[in-house]
Amino acid sequence: FVRKQTLVNAERYIVPELKDFENKILSAKEKIEQLEYYIFTQLREKIRSQIVQIQETARALANIDVLVSLAEVAFKYNYVCPELNNRSEIKIYDGRHPVVERLLEREIFVPNNTTLNNNDERMIIITGPNMAGKSTYMRQVALLVLMTQMGSFIPARQATICPVDKIFTRVGASDDLATGQSTFMVEMNEVAQILRYATKDSLIILDEVGRGTSTFDGMSIARAVMEFIHEKIKAKTLFATHYHQLIALEDVMNGVKNYSVAVKERGNDIVFLRRIVPGGTDRSYGVHVARLAGLPKKVIDRAQDILEEYDNCETACSVQITPRAEKETAPMGSLFASSLQQQILKMDVMAMTPIEALNTLYKLQDEAKREGGGL
Ligand SMILES: Nc1ncnc2c1ncn2[C@@H]1O[C@H](COP(=O)(O)OP(=O)(O)OP(=O)(O)O)[C@@H](O)[C@H]1O
Ligand SMILES: [Mg+2]
Repeated sequence: FVRKQTLVNAERYIVPELKDFENKILSAKEKIEQLEYYIFTQLREKIRSQIVQIQETARALANIDVLVSLAEVAFKYNYVCPELNNRSEIKIYDGRHPVVERLLEREIFVPNNTTLNNNDERMIIITGPNMAGKSTYMRQVALLVLMTQMGSFIPARQATICPVDKIFTRVGASDDLATGQSTFMVEMNEVAQILRYATKDSLIILDEVGRGTSTFDGMSIARAVMEFIHEKIKAKTLFATHYHQLIALEDVMNGVKNYSVAVKERGNDIVFLRRIVPGGTDRSYGVHVARLAGLPKKVIDRAQDILEEYDNCETACSVQITPRAEKETAPMGSLFASSLQQQILKMDVMAMTPIEALNTLYKLQDEAKREGGGL
């Protein structure tokens, strides 16, 4: 034993083995680190000599992973192989949103058709209540086109899809306060980018452009943007909006088609049917959806009253888009009725397909409703 220290009432000793042991423990951490680093560098050297093979293998595995995943969902969820065409045409029968259809638990996903081309259905205006499924539908179309172009099967019954050069979307409200951009500024920046870079071979998805500012500013911007895309860019476009006045554009611009998401009114309630049908709608049921979301009854009742006031004043103070064909038609019962009569007389009933007849009837009724003050 070697004496190490004398304390008031004790002596401390150590033995050489203990000293060795102490050294070992105190330097162990350092040694571990050294050893780890040594092994790491050795491994790195080993990898370096094989780097090309390893990277190629990783890439191949990533490819297999993607392809197997796509094949697996295609098999599991009944995807089909889309046909590719170079006729500038997108036709999807019973398309579904690949993600939303998986997330729904109690409801089943309602499939919908899509027709977009560079002629009579170039720009689709989608109206319909809040919560009806407009945004879902538009994103679904963009996703199916993207998946097709990736080489994947798609969730639909049948589809023929043309390649697009870019897909542009303007979706949702977000801001970027950190870089000094307000919500509306972000929205307008995105629209500006789209108008600058889209071509006639692009697919444009515009979800409620103009929502972030006053109604009239927003509607004016929305309409001007649509006109610009329609006349200058000529890209295939899906446009969802709550500015119901815009559905009149169908009558003044070629290739613009109105669609809406169907709902069924049941007493005070509405049932979302999630079906995209031809023709526009002039109701958003916003107050109704606000009630579903749980806004206090007092607020809802008050909103309902205010809405009725606005509705009553709308005929007097609204801005209407005058369709070319109807410019001379005064909004009066007898004159309007005669215009309706003329339109009906002009129709070649025998040459119409059932679906054309149905669409025409829908349009006439819609017109009658609009002109007749929503009877
Ligand atoms: N085809 C469908 N089948 C079943 N459920 C659907 C379908 N489309 C949408 N939904 C459901 O409806 C919800 C609302 O849809 P979405 O956000 O597309 O509505 P919206 O019409 O864009 O409403 P808003 O005008 O408020 O933006 C979705 O989150 C989804 O759960
Ligand atoms: Mg939406």
